[in-house]
Amino acid sequence: MGMGPSMGGGRGMVPGRSAVHGGIDPDKARLPKGLVRRVWREVAGPYRGQLVLLLFTITMSSALVVLPARLIQPIVDAISDGGSGAADTVTRFALLLVGIAVIGAGFSLWQRYLSARIGELLIYDLRRMLYDHVQRMPLAFFTRTRTGALISRLNNDVIGAQRALTGTFGTLAANVVQVVVAVGAMLAIEWRLTLLSLAVLPVFVLLAKQVGRRLQLLTRESMQLNADMNNVMTERFNVAGAQLVKLFGRADDEQATFGERARHVADIGIRSAIVGRVFFVLLGFVGALGTALVYLIGGRLALDGQLSPGDVVSFAALLGQAYQPLAALSNAPVEVLTALVSFDRVFEILDLRHPIADREGARTLTEPRGEVTFSGVSFAYPSAADSSLASLEQGWTAVLDATPGEEVLHEVSFAAAPGQTVALVGPSGAGKTTILNLVPRLYEVTSGAVRIDGLDVRDLTLSSVGAAVGVVSQDPHLFHDSIRANLRYARAAATDAEVEAACRAAQIHDVIAQLPDGYETVVGERGYRLSGGEKQRLAIARVLLKNPAIVVLDEATAHLDSESEAAVQLALRTALAGRTSLVIAHRLSTIVEADLILVIADGRIVQQGTHAELVGAEGIYADLARTQFRQPAPS
Ligand SMILES: Nc1ncnc2c1ncn2[C@@H]1O[C@H](COP(=O)(O)OP(=O)(O)OP(=O)(O)O)[C@@H](O)[C@H]1O
Ligand SMILES: [Mg+2]
Repeated sequence: MGMGPSMGGGRGMVPGRSAVHGGIDPDKARLPKGLVRRVWREVAGPYRGQLVLLLFTITMSSALVVLPARLIQPIVDAISDGGSGAADTVTRFALLLVGIAVIGAGFSLWQRYLSARIGELLIYDLRRMLYDHVQRMPLAFFTRTRTGALISRLNNDVIGAQRALTGTFGTLAANVVQVVVAVGAMLAIEWRLTLLSLAVLPVFVLLAKQVGRRLQLLTRESMQLNADMNNVMTERFNVAGAQLVKLFGRADDEQATFGERARHVADIGIRSAIVGRVFFVLLGFVGALGTALVYLIGGRLALDGQLSPGDVVSFAALLGQAYQPLAALSNAPVEVLTALVSFDRVFEILDLRHPIADREGARTLTEPRGEVTFSGVSFAYPSAADSSLASLEQGWTAVLDATPGEEVLHEVSFAAAPGQTVALVGPSGAGKTTILNLVPRLYEVTSGAVRIDGLDVRDLTLSSVGAAVGVVSQDPHLFHDSIRANLRYARAAATDAEVEAACRAAQIHDVIAQLPDGYETVVGERGYRLSGGEKQRLAIARVLLKNPAIVVLDEATAHLDSESEAAVQLALRTALAGRTSLVIAHRLSTIVEADLILVIADGRIVQQGTHAELVGAEGIYADLARTQFRQPAPS
């Protein structure tokens, strides 16, 4: 549908601007200009033909709703006049009413079919677009965004947007048609009476303006409160969150927090309902006044013989048919705006730039040798305003901080030749993980360059960099799926034999084979049914299947029992053989075997060399070697 990353000139991620969208400051709650045009052009595109057809069915069925009111006149007049043809006339019109009902029902069904079809497909389109756009956001976005708020966008707002298009605009069209047909019929009966009964119109409009704005604000706020509530759930209802709640015995507090969020949702629901109802009660009252006026004046005209009794009854019925849609229409600007809030919130996400994306003409890295060089790399984590949206991060009151993060890496330079092992050591918070994250381009350097085979990673396609670099993190993530499916995630085409071979090499095959369902065993969310060491070996097997030229590895800091430790060591030896590897090492054995050791402190390389060179020299390395490195497990 042509809604690529470049669409709309990238409205998001501009400091201050995002805060406006998340906020509900009445003066700023206005929707962006051209929103409707954008919806029509970019979202409604493939459905324009069907939307026109929908409009036709709406027109027909709405006209057929009004028509019976007009037919009251000949029937009532025939009854009050009596005479020879009266019985025939009554029968004829009664049959006509049945006919109209049947045709009206047909159009109504057709209309429903069309609106359901357009609506559901629209939801499908928007969900797919949002999903794809979000999954291509850089890691920084996910470290900041509240998952619940994001999921709420993909659910509630998408449905809201669909309602806007098929519901709100459909109702709008139906109301316009009803008003036009009813007022036309009224004019045909008595034009002065028509003008008189429409004199109450300005009151409708005035009321609508008053209430409209308020209702729109309430809707936006309600969407945001719903997102807050969802977020509490998504954060707590996963293994890590649930474990935290239990370990700290916070169930009662959690209940209170959730209760408070849910209560806000309930309160705003009540407020919206009351505001909406007050509006309709007032409108109903105004409508009743108009009807009374028709009987008062129309009745006199009938007594003077200027109108027939049928005219008066028919006119009153038509007026009823006109007031109801008029009431709805006077509220239309509000409803349209409210409905468009959802579109705005959907576009807000689609407009987020993808700061880490393939550059134009990006090259594909084929058959990488696996040389990794850092030249003068400095790095600061992106600011909040640069990586997220206020409404996704903190809720609707927030304004995101635009000050860039402090620089955490300064002028880091080193080179790893193909097949070499580079060990990174240094105190906690020194920047080791940050350095590793720059290799697969999870983040973008602030200055300097990261190169693979001499090519800047920013000039390569993301997918080929991804294929060249395999990552084993400290706490590897597994999807809630079978072990086999988790392994195949690395290479969908891998045969069972290849999967098994990788697991043997990673020293995990025997463990898997002993599980009741073997490779079909489902590992829970985050793989919590496996031990830490088993999970790391599974992650190593996954990387082996991918067969990358470069492996990046964050050694587990948690103590493994000596058997697991030995297994992990052996697995690593296989995994790293013949590949360039960057390893954050805690085990002396890994460090001693490394071709190059980088000692990192405060975001700088303070020492580098081999173990033999460094252990003799005074410095951080010698201290670390004495106090921190774990000796190989006795075997
Ligand atoms: N996502 C992030 N956003 C902002 N700052 C971060 C982020 N991740 C890490 N930092 C900061 O960057 C610095 C380096 O962190 P890093 O995780 O690279 O340290 P490390 O050497 O891996 O430490 P450890 O040995 O404890 O894992 C720290 O000051 C940390 O607070
Ligand atoms: Mg780390």
